[in-house]
Amino acid sequence: MENKIKEIRQNAILKIEQATDLKSLEAVKNEFLSRNSEFNNLKKGMKDLSPEQKPVIGALLNKVSSELNSLIEEKNEIFYKKELNEKLLSEKIDITLDGDYIPMGHVHPLTKTIDEIVEIFNLLGFSLIRPEFSPEVEMEKYNFDLLNVPKEHPARDVQDTFYCEDMPNVVLRSQTSNAQARQMMNSKPPIKIISPGRVYRNENVSARKNNLFHQIEGLYVDKNVTMAHLKGVLNEFIRLYFGSSRPTRFRSSFFPFTEPSVEIDVQCIMCKGEGCSICSGTGWLEILGAGMVDPNVLNDVGIDSTVYSGFAFGMGIERLAMLKYAIDDIRLFFNNDIRFLKQF
Ligand code: PHE
Repeated sequence: MENKIKEIRQNAILKIEQATDLKSLEAVKNEFLSRNSEFNNLKKGMKDLSPEQKPVIGALLNKVSSELNSLIEEKNEIFYKKELNEKLLSEKIDITLDGDYIPMGHVHPLTKTIDEIVEIFNLLGFSLIRPEFSPEVEMEKYNFDLLNVPKEHPARDVQDTFYCEDMPNVVLRSQTSNAQARQMMNSKPPIKIISPGRVYRNENVSARKNNLFHQIEGLYVDKNVTMAHLKGVLNEFIRLYFGSSRPTRFRSSFFPFTEPSVEIDVQCIMCKGEGCSICSGTGWLEILGAGMVDPNVLNDVGIDSTVYSGFAFGMGIERLAMLKYAIDDIRLFFNNDIRFLKQF
């Protein structure tokens, strides 16, 4: 047995010396020290030895086992460092190489405009509506009925609405005013919200009109809200959005859901005079409709119009962006020509 142990030791030391890398060293370790190795089997044979032999052979086995282990450990350390070094050298980054050009993206000019407008109204105390109160695919009830637009009323045609073929009474909303009715039905005054989003109308597409565009609706309902508040808030918005120098005008108007109603125009900064594609040569571009919420609308959603009053407004985002950045064609927002988008 003693000879066998010495033979195995000799053999193992030789193979450890011959090992050239971590992998071959691991193989040697498996061959000589694993559970099923010949060396381990010798340990199992200890029980058949005589009482005199047992301590001698036991001590020898332990000695050889720890000798082989430490030889392997030693070499392991050397190989590990060597291989790590090689890896680090081969993975060295060449900092003199040119990097790949990755162009920086940014938000769409419409998103940027919406963010800007929302921020201004936040400053004025309006908070963003919950999205479920402002759906794009809407029931006629919220887009029209609850906004004091009776069935068969010509006002429904004014906003050339897209109806869903398979679902009666479902429309692509023609105005963000649907948010007014939903908000008022689901909360009690004081209400002070804004609701940005897409709207759809069956328009002839031109430099100033598109089938799809964006609006921001605003609604303020509380006790003692007056036309003076409406004017104050909208003038302040215009001052903050355009800066103080932009001429504007209030004009009386009509909407079924507000009484009295107004529209606000901003001077056309791109005006090419007579035949201007933006303002039709008038020098002014309408940016929003507004007014005092009609008492019928309040009563229909369960708000007592003898106690509460309110104002609402709806502004066209594309137009606001066009007037701020001197963009002379609404279609530019939707073509996504990178040469246009890059300028923002
Ligand atoms: N919804 C109207 C439109 O799209 C604008 C509006 C909103 C007018 C709120 C009055 C009050 O033309």
